[in-house]
Amino acid sequence: MEGGAVKVVVTGAAGQIGYSILPMICSGHMLGANTHIDLGLLDIPQCEEALRGVVMELQDCSYPLITQIRHGSDPREILRDADIIIFLGGFPRKAGMERKELLQRNCNIFKEQGAALNEVGKQTTLCLVVANPANTNCLILSHFAPNIPRKNFSAMTRLDHNRSMHQIAARAGVHSSAVKNVIIWGNHSSTQYPDVNHGTVNGHPIKQTLNDDAWLHGEFITTVQRRGAAIIEARKLSSAMSAAKAAVDHVRTWVQGTPEGEHVSMAVLSDGSYGIDEGLCYSYPVTCANKEWHVVQGLHIDEFSREKMELTKRELIEERDEALS
Ligand code: NAD
Ligand code: LMR
Repeated sequence: MEGGAVKVVVTGAAGQIGYSILPMICSGHMLGANTHIDLGLLDIPQCEEALRGVVMELQDCSYPLITQIRHGSDPREILRDADIIIFLGGFPRKAGMERKELLQRNCNIFKEQGAALNEVGKQTTLCLVVANPANTNCLILSHFAPNIPRKNFSAMTRLDHNRSMHQIAARAGVHSSAVKNVIIWGNHSSTQYPDVNHGTVNGHPIKQTLNDDAWLHGEFITTVQRRGAAIIEARKLSSAMSAAKAAVDHVRTWVQGTPEGEHVSMAVLSDGSYGIDEGLCYSYPVTCANKEWHVVQGLHIDEFSREKMELTKRELIEERDEALS
C-alpha cells in the first residue's frame, strides 16, 4: 500500500451501495485527500452493462485521485493484488425476510470469491464484508482463503454502531459526535446487542446522562436491531447511503487508526475474547493502529449483557454450522 496508488476493489459495484460508496472513495473520504487509488470493480456478467455505465460516470467525474479503473466479472482478475476489498456483492434482503434467509444464496458467492482470493490475493489484503449475512459470509470467505491471515477479514457492524450513536444523541439532545464508545456485540442481525455500558455523551457515562434504564434496555436496543428492517419497510429497498458511509468509516478507521481512548465496532474472527468461540465472526469493540485491530479487553460484562452476548453468539454458531455444512 506504501508508495504508489492503493488498489481498492469493490464487488457488487453496480448495485445500490456501490453507487453511494464510489463517489466517497474516489473523493478521498476513505483513504485521505492525498492517496491515489487504482479502482477495481466487480459484478456478475448479467450486470456488466450496468457496471459499464457506472464506469462511464466515474470517468466523467474526473476524480483527481483515481489513477485507473478496471472492471469485470472474473474475481480472479479483479481481486488480484488488491490492497483493500469491500465485498458488497450479493442478494439484498427484501421486506419480511430475515438476514439468515440469505445464507444459502450468498454462501456460494463467498466460497467462490474466497477461493479466488486465495489464489490471487496478497498477504496484506484487507477485506471488509458488507453483503448479508455479513458475519457468516466473512467467515466463509476466510475459510476458503486460508493463505490470507485471519486478521485481514472483517464484517461490517459499523452501521449498527453509527445507528446507536444517533439514537443516544437524539435522546440526549446532542449531536452524534458527542457520543463515544458504544459497542455492537455479535451478529449484524436482529440478535445483535447494542451496549451502552461503556459509552459516553460529552465525556459522561451514557447511563448516568440518560438515567433511563428502561429505555436503554428496551426500546433503544430493539430500535437499533430493527433499523435495517424499518428502512426496507419505508424505502422498499435496503439501506444504501448509510451503509456506504459506514463502510467508508470502517475502512478509514482500520487504516488510519482510532483516536486515543476511543473504540469502534468491527466484526472479526474471534480469538476467544469474552468467551466467544474462536473463529466465529463476532462484533467486538476494537481499537485500530498500524492497519491492525485489537479487541478492547477487560470490560466489565454484567448479567444482562452476558445473556444478550450469548444469544447473538448462538445465532452465529447456527449460521456457521449451516453454512459450512
Ligand atoms: P444491490 O442488489 O443493489 O447490489 C448488489 C450487487 O451485487 C448487484 O449489482 C449484483 O449484481 C451484485 N452481485 C451479486 N452476486 C455477485 C457476485 N457473485 N459477485 C459480484 N457481484 C455480485 O444490493 P445493495 O443494496 O447494494 O446491498 C449489497 C449487500 O449489502 C446486500 O447483501 C445487503 O443486504 C448488504 N447490506 C449490508 C449492510 C451491513 O450493515 N452489513 C447494510 C446494508 C446492506
Ligand atoms: C441494514 O442493516 O440496513 C442492512 O443489513 C440491510 C438489511 O437487510 O437489514
